[in-house]
Amino acid sequence: MSCKVMAICAGRKNGNGEILAKEALSAAQAAGAEVEMINLFDYNILPCTGCEGCTMQMGEVAMDPTKQYRGCVLKNKDDVDALIAEMHTCNGVIFSVPTYDLTPSSLYTRFAQRFLAYELSFLLEIGVVKENPNTVAGLIAVGGSMHDWQSLALESLQATMFTMSLTVVDRFMSQRVGRPGNVLLHQEQLDRAHQMGENIVKAINTPVEERTWLGDPNDGVCPNCHSSLVYPGDAHWDGIEFPYECAVCGCGGELGTNPKTGKPMLIIDPENGHVRDRCIDKSRAEHLNEIIQTRIDFFQRQGEVKPLQAKYRDMKFPTFTIER
Ligand SMILES: Cc1cc2nc3c(=O)[nH]c(=O)nc-3n(C[C@H](O)[C@H](O)[C@H](O)COP(=O)(O)O)c2cc1C
Repeated sequence: MSCKVMAICAGRKNGNGEILAKEALSAAQAAGAEVEMINLFDYNILPCTGCEGCTMQMGEVAMDPTKQYRGCVLKNKDDVDALIAEMHTCNGVIFSVPTYDLTPSSLYTRFAQRFLAYELSFLLEIGVVKENPNTVAGLIAVGGSMHDWQSLALESLQATMFTMSLTVVDRFMSQRVGRPGNVLLHQEQLDRAHQMGENIVKAINTPVEERTWLGDPNDGVCPNCHSSLVYPGDAHWDGIEFPYECAVCGCGGELGTNPKTGKPMLIIDPENGHVRDRCIDKSRAEHLNEIIQTRIDFFQRQGEVKPLQAKYRDMKFPTFTIER
């Protein structure tokens, strides 16, 4: 099958992330894919304004399908709409993102947080999009340190995949690469990136229902999304609660031991452990119900809020201004 794979890099020009992305793309190309690479530094990416215009519209269309969904208020004000349209022409996407302060760099998160207006599971739910293109993703976190100083890097990258509606089939952490080109001293990491390129094409060429995890089988604590972050659960908005849940995909269950490695593992509840699984469109769309319900509750009590809003609007404190 002919396919197209894009690499999205958020690292320095000719930096370690670009090198790894190029190695992965060269493998994807050798496996028959059309390929392209972008570096987010080359584009104008405005931060999400937080206006909630997109989810407000989604709520309105959900309740009245005759209404039109107009999308993001920043649509023609920067390059993001064009970048997302281009990404949607691809069957697979490889993200290569530097780790800053344990997490993905802000250039990447600025881009990622613009996807709420394009959230596929919400748009499928309200009928604006008719079919899931089932695009797959590979994630590379690139850092100067080892896992201990990149502890939120892959998980935070993964957390952005749900709104992008991409299914992660492989991930790895490039470690101890600092100055540009440092990764060239780590042949095993270049080989791993190459493997990722092959894995992405393999996943694309596999029927959707037969696709499986192609990364390290023992990666992470959650057997569903392979994240390393599992925490003691607490009540959700509708009362659902798990003893432990995965911070990334939301699967719930008990904490146990991986029989193969002897390491801690989330044992997903066979009955309801996937009801909040953000990897599943339907479970993720349930979150739209939460957003709509929170909004309904707010509008019902808006009379109480208005005078208090005025109080805080009028409360002024000294601020710091910069003369330009
Ligand atoms: C502001 C800043 C914060 C950083 N924080 C971390 C960190 O928390 N953990 C880490 O492993 N590396 C950290 N690094 C190192 C970069 O991740 C590393 O240099 C990486 O190779 C950059 O990728 P690039 O070459 O693709 O730009 C930091 C670098 C910068 C500039």
